[in-house]
Amino acid sequence: MQLKFILNKEEKIWDVQPEEKFLDLLRKNGYLGVKYGCGSGNCGTCTIILDGKAIYSCLLLAPQVQGKKVITIEGLEQEELDLLQESFIEVGAMQCGYCTSGMILSAKALLLKKNNPALEEIKTALTGNLCRCTGYVKPLKAILKVIEKGKLNV
Ligand code: FES
Ligand code: FES
Repeated sequence: MQLKFILNKEEKIWDVQPEEKFLDLLRKNGYLGVKYGCGSGNCGTCTIILDGKAIYSCLLLAPQVQGKKVITIEGLEQEELDLLQESFIEVGAMQCGYCTSGMILSAKALLLKKNNPALEEIKTALTGNLCRCTGYVKPLKAILKVIEKGKLNV
């Protein structure tokens, strides 16, 4: 089947198998910022933004993306890094970086909805993103720093 959708603001038409996982499809097409962790909806490394919501791409089949808008971590960086990306670097909110794309996209989806979320809302938005190295304090600091700057490029 043909899958027609918007990926990082560009229209894509890809030949796909209906049973293909969207995570596999993205990686096969070079979008390697989306990571394979558990493959079963338990870790968040495969998070993307689908029509404005943070979603696990390992739980999506290709046909479920038909006609929708997808943002991956590659779509955040335009001429310069997104403020969230910059802030994660400044704060040192990563070690191996395996969870980082997912965390940033979960935060981005929240900020797209609400530009001044409360701490509890940020924590809730990140509950689906597990980190085995840095933990959660530094990513929270990085996100709060962006909100405090008050100039979101969302
Ligand atoms: S790989 Fe999708 S949630 Fe773990
Ligand atoms: S930085 Fe390594 S899993 Fe989070």
